[in-house]
Amino acid sequence: MITNEELFKKIIAHAKEYGYVFPSSEIYDGLAAVYDYGQYGVELKNNIKQYWWKSMVQQHENIVGVDSAIFMHPTVWKASGHVDAFNDPLIDNKDSKKRYRADVLVEDFIQKIEEKINKEVEKAKKRFENFDEELYRKTNQRVVDYQNRIDAIRSQLSNLLNNNDLVGLKDLITELEIACPVSGSRNWTDVRQFNLMFATQIGSLADGADTVYLRPETAQGIFTNFLNVYKTGRMKIPFGIAQVGKAFRNEIVARQFIFRMREFEQMEMQFFVRPGEELQWFEYWKETRMKWHLSLGIDEQNYRFHDHEKLAHYANAATDIEFRFPFGFKELEGIHSRTDFDLKQHEQFSGKKMRYFDAETNESYIPYVVETSIGLDRMFLAVLSYAFDEETLNDGTQRVVLRLPVALAPVKAAVLPLVKKDGLPEIAREIMTKLKAVMMCQYDEKDAIGRRYRRQDAIGTPYSITVDNQTKEDQTVTVRERDSMEQERVAIDNLLDYLHLS
Ligand code: GAP
Repeated sequence: MITNEELFKKIIAHAKEYGYVFPSSEIYDGLAAVYDYGQYGVELKNNIKQYWWKSMVQQHENIVGVDSAIFMHPTVWKASGHVDAFNDPLIDNKDSKKRYRADVLVEDFIQKIEEKINKEVEKAKKRFENFDEELYRKTNQRVVDYQNRIDAIRSQLSNLLNNNDLVGLKDLITELEIACPVSGSRNWTDVRQFNLMFATQIGSLADGADTVYLRPETAQGIFTNFLNVYKTGRMKIPFGIAQVGKAFRNEIVARQFIFRMREFEQMEMQFFVRPGEELQWFEYWKETRMKWHLSLGIDEQNYRFHDHEKLAHYANAATDIEFRFPFGFKELEGIHSRTDFDLKQHEQFSGKKMRYFDAETNESYIPYVVETSIGLDRMFLAVLSYAFDEETLNDGTQRVVLRLPVALAPVKAAVLPLVKKDGLPEIAREIMTKLKAVMMCQYDEKDAIGRRYRRQDAIGTPYSITVDNQTKEDQTVTVRERDSMEQERVAIDNLLDYLHLS
């Protein structure tokens, strides 16, 4: 059995080897927490975007999209609270000179206790035949003690963060005797706040250039376009505005591959509702978004909700959809009931009325907002880590296969002439021409057929179509399905139907 850490390393190596994700500017040794998507990565990413956009915009008559600029007027970030409060608490180790997020040091400490629990569970699994994990976790004294300790630390951490208590945070690190993973020492500086926004200049310095920020979320581009879209789109409440785009955060802790990046993409939707109806809509979006995840065919046990107990001052409900990444359950998507906070702030800072006239109630009001916000790169990592499998076959050989959902797979079908002669490549080329008008396909005639199948498995191609001598006689081909490796004879004329319906 390999550990989760080894598995994660394998996934990262596979992503690079097969053209999914490369470190940015790799020839210069890369740039921390910045990544590029390769030839298959870009396809997977586009497919995830499209899958989201279709379900959110195309299938909801009352949701429309926008594509707002990354640069925005600097006052936007004053109004949104990001200039004053978009901070992370950082701490330095005086010996190693390494910088950490103070809350992450505590989270890592908690994770170590969680690992101890998992070890107890694994041991017990081997010991008892009809093992009931849930019962064991609730009743084994050692596990219960560990869990109580975790709960106590979590609650303390969350109080300190909510009260912005930086001294208390340092005290907690001292109390838990947390040491620097590099130097091993407990020689820490005080905890300080660090703003995560990247700032740059717009205009020439000679003209007295203005400071602008690279947006840390796409949502504000939706709020600032609320009036434009509501009026030009003749939108009626409840309605939503969706956007997919880049966001930038100067993350202190940059690790876990594409889970936490400094440049990343978000898929966000702000849903504008009547005041007082927001909690109903919050429940609707919680359920709808979870259904979207499950519609991809990824097992349910990989997802869970994590409702926020302590809420940001502007929210009256919030939950995360967490995914079981190789390094544990972590946030994949946030669903937040943000009240009228953002529009109210923009009304105040811009002096423009951010109101909706409700013809049904004859009232004018600032709508309440329920937001769904998912990181595209995190979704990419979720799908990739779920799909990655090293399978031992009946004959004892191994294959690496990406069991990607068909809708997301970068290449849907590979067209493979069995040999490079006897007119087979010509037939394969004809099939390729027909299929590539409809879906992403790949033609491959190099190497033995077994090796070509393995290559397609590693890329995650759901179907491989082989043209052989029988094709010349009866115009049928073999279609091999990636996961089961089962093969079926299909008439060339029926291929498109077969691939769409399978
Ligand atoms: N507008 C709300 C908002 O931005 P958030 O919880 O800060 O909320 C939403 O971010 C989602 O964006 C997260 O659930 C996560 O999937 C993704 N995300 C946030 N920071 C990220 C980072 N540094 N790298 C990759 N994805 C990130």
